[in-house]
Amino acid sequence: MNPAALDLLFAHRSIRRFAEGEVPDEHVRLAVRAGQQASTSSNVQAYSMLRLRDPAVLERLVELTGGQSKVARCGAFFVVCGDVRRHRVLARKVGLPYQARLEGFLVAVIDASLFAQNLCVAFESMGYGICYIGGLRNDLPAVQRLLALPEGVYPLFGLCVGIPAEDPAPRPRLAPEAVLHEERYPDDEAILASIDQYDGVMTAYYAERGSSGTWSTKMEAQFKEPYRTSIADFYRSQGADLS
Ligand SMILES: Cc1cc2nc3c(=O)[nH]c(=O)nc-3n(C[C@H](O)[C@H](O)[C@H](O)COP(=O)(O)O)c2cc1C
Repeated sequence: MNPAALDLLFAHRSIRRFAEGEVPDEHVRLAVRAGQQASTSSNVQAYSMLRLRDPAVLERLVELTGGQSKVARCGAFFVVCGDVRRHRVLARKVGLPYQARLEGFLVAVIDASLFAQNLCVAFESMGYGICYIGGLRNDLPAVQRLLALPEGVYPLFGLCVGIPAEDPAPRPRLAPEAVLHEERYPDDEAILASIDQYDGVMTAYYAERGSSGTWSTKMEAQFKEPYRTSIADFYRSQGADLS
């Protein structure tokens, strides 16, 4: 047992307001190294990350992420990418085809996500707060042009890191029994019962914060309309074969 590691995981909450001051390069390097130690499919290590410091680029990314000002007001901002460029360059160098299809793309997305989460835990262990920025996918072609990302590099999400200037309570999750199933997947009635239970928890959580709604109503709103509909076209244009 490592209670300190568990305490760190249970203390996670996204931070959206940061104190002034850059995250020093040596802390970034250490977190990257920890992130890299995450498991990776067949050791392909199909990810990379850009640190962005240019204020003009960061301000443009605030716009592209739907006005998320924290992108330009955190101690370090990163763009996490699935990255099969090095595998493609290698294949080209030895005159072999690069044949990964949807599986190759999924491997890159999974690897990059595992890397990023280990990286985030490492930053949190140093006292920093983090917030993933899925808003980066609002307009991926514009992000690609802004950052001049070459073929084989798939921007997935942004990441804000910095000293927290707020201290929100951790957000409750579904009960563990709702996500861990013994032997068989539950029927829909059991799923709805676990959602009811969580709605009760979340109603109280929102009420404490002067907000309203349930998890159900938020998920209904989230998925009732298609959104970010040209993502497949964008990743294809970056060289991904999604078949
Ligand atoms: C891939 C990903 C993208 C996210 N994108 C955003 C975002 O664009 N803006 C934001 O404020 N939070 C974003 N979040 C944070 C989630 O809203 C947050 O993790 C979730 O509500 C749970 O809250 P917690 O992290 O405080 O426990 C993102 C999280 C993930 C994993």
